[in-house]
Amino acid sequence: MTVVSTFKLALFFTLASTLVTISLQQEQPLLLNSAEQDSVYQVLSSINSATNWRTLFPDDLCSYPPHGIVCDYFTDPTTKNVTVHVTELSFGYVSDFTPNPSCSPNSTFSPLLFTSFKHLRKLFFYQCFTQTQAFVPDIPTTFGSSLVELVFINNPAFVGPLSGITGNFTSLRRLVLSGNGIHGAIPNAIGDLANIEEITLSRNKLSGKVSVNLSKLNKLKILDLSGNGFHGNVPSSVGNLTHLLKLDLSSNGFSGKIPESLSNLQALDFLDLSFNRFGNYGVPLFLAAMPRLKEVHLSGNLLGGQIPEIWGNLGGILGIGFSNMGLVGEIPASMGLHLRNLSYLGLDNNKLNGKVPEEFGFLEFVNEINLENNNLSGRLPFSANFTAKVGEKLRLKGNPELCLDEKLSHRESVGELKKCSKPDIPNPVLFIGVSHSGLLSSSSSFLVLLLFWGLWILSA
Ligand SMILES: *[C@@H]1O[C@H](CO)[C@@H](O)[C@H](O)[C@H]1NC(C)=O
Ligand SMILES: *[C@@H]1O[C@H](CO)[C@@H](O)[C@H](O)[C@H]1NC(C)=O
Ligand SMILES: *[C@@H]1O[C@H](CO)[C@@H](O)[C@H](O)[C@H]1NC(C)=O
Ligand SMILES: *[C@@H]1O[C@H](CO)[C@@H](O)[C@H](O)[C@H]1NC(C)=O
Ligand SMILES: *[C@@H]1O[C@H](CO)[C@@H](O)[C@H](O)[C@H]1NC(C)=O
Ligand SMILES: *[C@@H]1O[C@H](CO)[C@@H](O)[C@H](O)[C@H]1NC(C)=O
Ligand SMILES: *[C@@H]1O[C@H](CO)[C@@H](O)[C@H](O)[C@H]1NC(C)=O
Ligand SMILES: *[C@@H]1O[C@H](CO)[C@@H](O)[C@H](O)[C@H]1NC(C)=O
Repeated sequence: MTVVSTFKLALFFTLASTLVTISLQQEQPLLLNSAEQDSVYQVLSSINSATNWRTLFPDDLCSYPPHGIVCDYFTDPTTKNVTVHVTELSFGYVSDFTPNPSCSPNSTFSPLLFTSFKHLRKLFFYQCFTQTQAFVPDIPTTFGSSLVELVFINNPAFVGPLSGITGNFTSLRRLVLSGNGIHGAIPNAIGDLANIEEITLSRNKLSGKVSVNLSKLNKLKILDLSGNGFHGNVPSSVGNLTHLLKLDLSSNGFSGKIPESLSNLQALDFLDLSFNRFGNYGVPLFLAAMPRLKEVHLSGNLLGGQIPEIWGNLGGILGIGFSNMGLVGEIPASMGLHLRNLSYLGLDNNKLNGKVPEEFGFLEFVNEINLENNNLSGRLPFSANFTAKVGEKLRLKGNPELCLDEKLSHRESVGELKKCSKPDIPNPVLFIGVSHSGLLSSSSSFLVLLLFWGLWILSA
């Protein structure tokens, strides 16, 4: 044998053994079993039968899946056998970053969804049921023991009672059903979802009283029931959700008093109770005890009363929506003093009177202030810089006694406001009004009086 042929032989063996290792390693990553693979194809075609999923994705669906199909490995604790299973199914094209399989207008539910995937952690539908009605399917009670997220967003043709969405949801952390056609009341079983962190049921057709006992849901961070037809009192057990960060009950028919128990929600940063029918018990004072609050919206409830002095510990607030609440009295200067980070303030369509506090002129981060349709009066405390920055979003119409410095009055959105008379030289009428109000003003009034006397002497 020549050296060259020995070398060739060695090379051959090396190559061969490399090939064997490669093929072994390729055998090793387990394939999705054919039944589960087949179920994925069937579910995909129930979502969009116009696409030939078997041709487009012919290989192992765990190794070469469409976006939205996710698998994971599972080790049997006794046999140490490793298997692979589908753990996430997401349907509906969200964006180029989340290009899940797109749904056709006549998507349907395949029953295999609820029987074939024992290890499913996430089930997600976005804009899938948009035209052909898809009723809440029959879900076997054995379904869902590993499910962590159940999400249906913007599926207006997904209809049926919330109580029909059942399963063994012992692991569920996110229940998001937003913008669908789901109706009926909240079933009591929701109060048993011991691990739940988010319940979002916004923009459906839900109704009835919310009588479910929420006090066990001590991991809940988000509760959003907005945009439904709920009525009656807000259950006081909401106050037991001490880890809550966001509470949105807006655009329903909730009535009665806003429960005092909400004062326990010390972690809350977003509170929206706007557009309900809460009674005239005034702005709740417990807001003062929610130090993390960033946004509070109570608009469209005739709570009445004055704006309370509760702002001392609420410097983190960015947005306040107190429109259309039947508020009376003056705007407290303490709002401007403490809410240094305020970005949005809506106090329009109330019965507020008096002046806009000077402190409001120094709010650095304001993007929008709406004071329309009150009975505010006097000179506005805003500089030219301030009005230039806030622009059209400084809304002041419908306050006939409010006046604006001449240099600001060219602006259109405030065009109806009258111009203030010269600031430092009060006219004689004003002078009579304030002559008894303290040393400073009476001394300057005295000067004015002297001036007028002098003019009278001169002209005489
Ligand atoms: C899993 O383990 C069982 C029992 O040990 C065995 O019969 C079976 O073939 C194994 N399955 C796989 C896929 O390795
Ligand atoms: C859904 O509509 C497509 C055309 O848009 C049609 O090809 C398909 O057969 C329909 N599927 C069902 C289940 O009706
Ligand atoms: C529900 O899931 C738990 C585990 O999370 C399991 O022990 C129980 O047997 C399941 N119940 C049903 C009816 O499947
Ligand atoms: C809610 O449940 C808790 C414990 O699970 C119980 O202590 C409380 O009395 C219940 N509240 C109501 C209003 O039923
Ligand atoms: C719920 O809150 C009330 C007081 O607001 C308290 O008495 C009760 O013990 C709390 N229940 C639970 C289960 O935490
Ligand atoms: C205001 O905002 C700044 C910057 O986001 C932040 O550092 C500061 O803590 C905020 N003030 C309050 C009182 O929360
Ligand atoms: C508006 O305020 C003025 C005082 O500035 C007061 O005389 C008037 O009665 C108020 N109007 C209403 C409708 O409250
Ligand atoms: C107003 O803005 C201009 C430039 O934007 C700046 O130079 C000036 O100092 C500002 N005036 C006040 C009073 O902030």
